[in-house]
Amino acid sequence: MESDPVFPRLIALTRAGFEPECAQELEHELAARGGSGYAQTQRDSGFVLLHVQDAPQRRLRVRELIFARQLLPLRASFEALDPKDRVAPILAEVKASGVMLSDVWVETADSPAGEQMRAFARSFESAMATALKREKRLDARSTHRLHLFAHSGTQIDLCIATHAETAPWKGGIPRLRFPSESPSRSTLKLEEAFLVLLDEDERARWLQAGMTAVDLGACPGGWSYQFTRRAMRVIAVDNGAMADSLMATGLVDHVRADGFRFQPQKPVEWMVCDMVEQPIKVAERMATWLREGWCRRTIFNLKLPMKKRWPEVQRCFASMREAVPFDLDLRAKQLYHDREEITVFAACA
Ligand SMILES: C[S@@+](CC[C@H](N)C(=O)[O-])C[C@H]1O[C@@H](n2cnc3c(N)ncnc32)[C@H](O)[C@@H]1O
Repeated sequence: MESDPVFPRLIALTRAGFEPECAQELEHELAARGGSGYAQTQRDSGFVLLHVQDAPQRRLRVRELIFARQLLPLRASFEALDPKDRVAPILAEVKASGVMLSDVWVETADSPAGEQMRAFARSFESAMATALKREKRLDARSTHRLHLFAHSGTQIDLCIATHAETAPWKGGIPRLRFPSESPSRSTLKLEEAFLVLLDEDERARWLQAGMTAVDLGACPGGWSYQFTRRAMRVIAVDNGAMADSLMATGLVDHVRADGFRFQPQKPVEWMVCDMVEQPIKVAERMATWLREGWCRRTIFNLKLPMKKRWPEVQRCFASMREAVPFDLDLRAKQLYHDREEITVFAACA
């Protein structure tokens, strides 16, 4: 067993194939907070290990990272657990920590190797929960959770973290049910964006019946559906065909026009954009909407190039900040339902 409190390590879970971007972002954000360290990763593993050498002045938060879905402070690594008794060494480490736990999650990478571990993770999680209960280490009021990141049945990383500093879903992936009334599966992308990029209070205040959203590149209407299901009005801009079911709600005004030229007649609460285009072109158009006050807030996708994805994200954000003469609240995540893209929320701060 290896444990090193002097040089803390963090595990970041990411989309398989995006480990280099996740590593670049972690090193960049660590340095931006006055810390230093280096990231270690393997292509397609679905995770990055960040070695922190000089602690940052402000902690890294998963909510503030784009390519990390979950971020866990690594307390101990078990490299060769005995399959006959995996529980005892983990329990000993938990007792040594002196921390009471709300519950235990066994998490795996979102990768082919991680996929193979799902059944083990489920059964080991219930074995661990039983042992923790027996040893009186569980208290539902505790703010700390035990996270066990399973590389294999014998290699497991142990992390103890507060609920506030981690993603509130196992592996940082909200499991969403596809609503059968939606015209397309990409509805899940906007639903996930509302969950991941906004907090509960913001969702309650900003997604209210009677509000209006412009949906650029709307057809067939999966994103528009997220608004109509909340009794919000939608101006759907696209030359394609909107689903009849959405038009039948009476809440959708379908405008056949170019989404890069369209302007609303009066300001709206939301503008969302799912047009597939050069990321910088999309970013510039989103900045124009905010600068001109055509919308209060926006959620949009940036389709990333094959190479230099992280620099491209930075270029888009820099261009938006330069184009808008006030502070921008910019939040972004590569969502579970995203592929070669990220989803961004932007508003005037
Ligand atoms: C990925 S699909 C959108 C899917 C939609 N968000 C949904 O959930 O059903 C992209 C859409 O953008 C539209 N589009 C692409 N360029 C556009 C433009 N310049 N103006 C308007 N629509 C555009 C396409 O016609 C297509 O329907």
